[in-house]
Order: sequence, then structure tokens, then C-alpha cells
Amino acid sequence: MTTALTLDSFPLGFRALVIGASGGIGQAFVQALRAHPRCAEVVGLHRRSQPRLDMDDEASIGQAADALRAGGTFHLIIHAAGVLHGPGFMPEKKLGDLNYAQLEATLRANTLGPALVLRHFVPLLDRQRGVLALLSAKVGSIGDNRLGGWYSYRASKAALNMLVKTAAIEVARSHPQAVLISLHPGTVNTALSQPFRGAHIGRAPHEAAADMLRVLDRLTPSESGGFFSYTGEPLPW
Ligand SMILES: NC(=O)c1ccc[n+]([C@@H]2O[C@H](COP(=O)([O-])OP(=O)(O)OC[C@H]3O[C@@H](n4cnc5c(N)ncnc54)[C@H](OP(=O)(O)O)[C@@H]3O)[C@@H](O)[C@H]2O)c1
Repeated sequence: MTTALTLDSFPLGFRALVIGASGGIGQAFVQALRAHPRCAEVVGLHRRSQPRLDMDDEASIGQAADALRAGGTFHLIIHAAGVLHGPGFMPEKKLGDLNYAQLEATLRANTLGPALVLRHFVPLLDRQRGVLALLSAKVGSIGDNRLGGWYSYRASKAALNMLVKTAAIEVARSHPQAVLISLHPGTVNTALSQPFRGAHIGRAPHEAAADMLRVLDRLTPSESGGFFSYTGEPLPW
């Protein structure tokens, strides 16, 4: 049985920010939060928003954070941007497919950009209740890697997980209430999963967003630095 999405660990009138708000999952987070009675404001950022935020443009990440600072702190920040395939590339099946262009594009979007998001957006987290979740992927688990392949994507998410864990250790010293986590959304029917039968095997984005918001609502500072599934279960590194 599905439990109600109360979001009552967040204060009444809480503020949320979604990065990657143009994506399948990002849009669903924005819609769910805008419809929720406890949430007063949802800011969505993406490559064409105002301010814009582009993982391929390092300066745009700090500039977007600067532009939002005067508006006050956020109780919930969700980073929902990322790539698996792109113009001219699909996930690698074998070592012979590896190339710098794909490795660079994937690491920029999934690792380097999120690292700068941690740098510039952690200071915008509310000091009483502040949750920052970055969407990772179970295939980024080194312990769970049974099938191989998908080199760039797996490596980019494994490195993202390390950045989140490392940042959580640092941030806990100055900001003991903060919760920073890596979050696996499960297979979701979006453009990202479309070439891999996502429409058949994936959940609808609004279901995935609701599942993940339930997990975020339950998280406490003692769980900061963790890697969680949309079910709330901790995942192996
Ligand atoms: N869907 C799944 O089954 C699944 C499974 C596991 C993990 N995930 C993770 O969930 C997250 C969201 O995926 P999704 O399924 O919602 O994918 P999606 O529909 O393809 O959306 C991807 C989002 O990332 C943004 N993005 C891509 N490259 C960017 C860049 N260089 N700079 C700024 N933004 C960039 C896109 O912006 P534009 O609109 O500008 O392109 C879009 O907002 C990703 O991190 C993905 O790895 C998804």
C-alpha cells in the first residue's frame, strides 16, 4: 500500500529547487512539489531557464546560485540532470567503444557539473531542515556491477557518489542538520531510458517523483552521505 505524501518533515511553506527541471524526472518533481500544499515555492533550473544552468558551462553554475541567493534558503534541492546517451553516442558495450568525447561529455554532465552544484548550492540549504539529493543510478554501484558495459555512465555515477559522500562529511561539521544523498530513481519512462525499453519497463515519472519524495521526507542528518534507492533501501557503493 502506498503511503500519503505528507512532506511533513519540511516546514509549512517550504521552498524547493529542482536542477534539471526540463527532464522527465525533473519536470515530475516540479509538478509534484507545486501541487503540494506544504510547498510555497518551487524554482526550476535548466539549460534554458532564467537564470540558466548548464553543466558544460562551469561559470553558469555559480552564477545561477548567486542569482537565487537573495531569495532565501531552500529546504529541498534536487539535482535531476544527467546523461546516458547523446548526439552520436550510446552506452559503451566493450572497451573497444571507449573514447574521450563520450567519456568527457558524460563526466561533465553527471560528475563535474554536480560537483560544482555541491560547491555552489550547499550554501543555499536551509540550516534547520535542508535536504540536497543528487540523482545517481544503481548501475553506478561498484559492488552491484554484475553485467559490465556502460563504462562512462557507471564511472560518472560512481564518482558522483564519492563526491556526495565526501561533501557530506565536510558539510556535517558546519551544517549539522544538512542531509546530502545520492538517490537512485529506479527505471523511469523518460527520454534517457527510451532506447532501453524504458516505455515498457519504466515507471511513470510522476510515480517515481512521489516515491523519491517519500524517501527524502524520511531522511535525517544521520543518513547524510548515503546512497539510497527510491524504495528507501541503502544501496551498496
Ligand atoms: N530514467 C531512468 O530510468 C533513470 C534511471 C537511473 C538514473 N536516472 C538518472 O535520473 C536523472 C534524470 O534522468 P531523466 O530520466 O529525467 O532523463 P531526461 O528526461 O533525459 O532528462 C535529463 C535532464 O538532464 C539535463 N541535462 C543533460 N545534460 C545536461 C547538461 N550538460 N547541462 C545541464 N543539464 C543537462 C537535461 O536538460 P535538457 O532538457 O536541456 O536536455 C534534462 O533536464 C539523471 O541523472 C539520470 O542519470 C534515470
